[in-house]
Amino acid sequence: MLEVSVQGKALSTEGPIERAAHFIKEAFNIVALTGAGISTSAGIPDFRSPESGFFNDPETMFLFTSWGFAQNPRGFYEMGKRLLPLFLNAKPTKAHLFLARLEKMGRLRCIITQNIDGLHQKAGSERVFEVHGNLRKGRCTGCKKECTLEEISRKIADNEIPPLCDGCKSIIRPNIILFGEPLPEGVFLEAVEELKRCDLLLVIGSSLVVYPVADIPLTALEHNAKLILLNRLPTQYDDRADVVLQMYIEEAIVKLQDVGGF
Ligand code: OAD
Ligand code: ZN
Repeated sequence: MLEVSVQGKALSTEGPIERAAHFIKEAFNIVALTGAGISTSAGIPDFRSPESGFFNDPETMFLFTSWGFAQNPRGFYEMGKRLLPLFLNAKPTKAHLFLARLEKMGRLRCIITQNIDGLHQKAGSERVFEVHGNLRKGRCTGCKKECTLEEISRKIADNEIPPLCDGCKSIIRPNIILFGEPLPEGVFLEAVEELKRCDLLLVIGSSLVVYPVADIPLTALEHNAKLILLNRLPTQYDDRADVVLQMYIEEAIVKLQDVGGF
């Protein structure tokens, strides 16, 4: 680390990027926690960005809740028909690829993601805990029979909105967690177990306001992990983090790779 001295006082020239790169280099059990912000540069809006988040529209916000889906499944699937191509055509970003590389290097234990877009897997990541579910599968709300996204997409394309189960004719729903629903318990508990062994939690692109995921940084800190936050806007953990990178994710990843040689 370079040091300069001004009026006899040692000042560090190491900035937050250098500090973050240093912590990443020192860590061998990294866990990444990702949110919608990691996928915005892939063309998928996040939820709460003031200018572009899904939740700027109250109707969209309502349809992402369990009661919104129950009251207006047709509206939910009309929205789904509009949004699905965004999700299906999206490509992993530099940040997704960076995390996949850290896993291959043997430094990253796993990714805990709130995202349903499957971009971590598209980037090549293997250990991914999708705590808010995913779009790959769906199930009948009546007989619980599972179905694939392809089956749901076909029905929507044929204007069967909402799509119905071939067997019992109840409405089919995607295997995502809607606001107000409990998380898939097994997946979440397994993810929390990973935090007990992690030496660095790297949070990328989440406002950290939705629980229980918003407790994850606290759990990591309680187990003495370092905490790096990479998010354009402040979060409730900024004061407790070892490094706060309040900047665009893509820009930060390029700089981290440059400085750290990852
Ligand atoms: P949010 O939309 O709440 O937060 C995304 C964060 O990423 C915001 O703070 C943005 O400022 C930041 N961000 C967006 N693009 C960025 C970029 N290119 N560079 C840097 N920062 C950027 O999304 P989540 O925290 O993922 O849950 O939301 C959590 C949950 O809220 C979602 O999983 C969803 C929703 O309710 C359910 O539906 C259950
Ligand atoms: Zn059924």
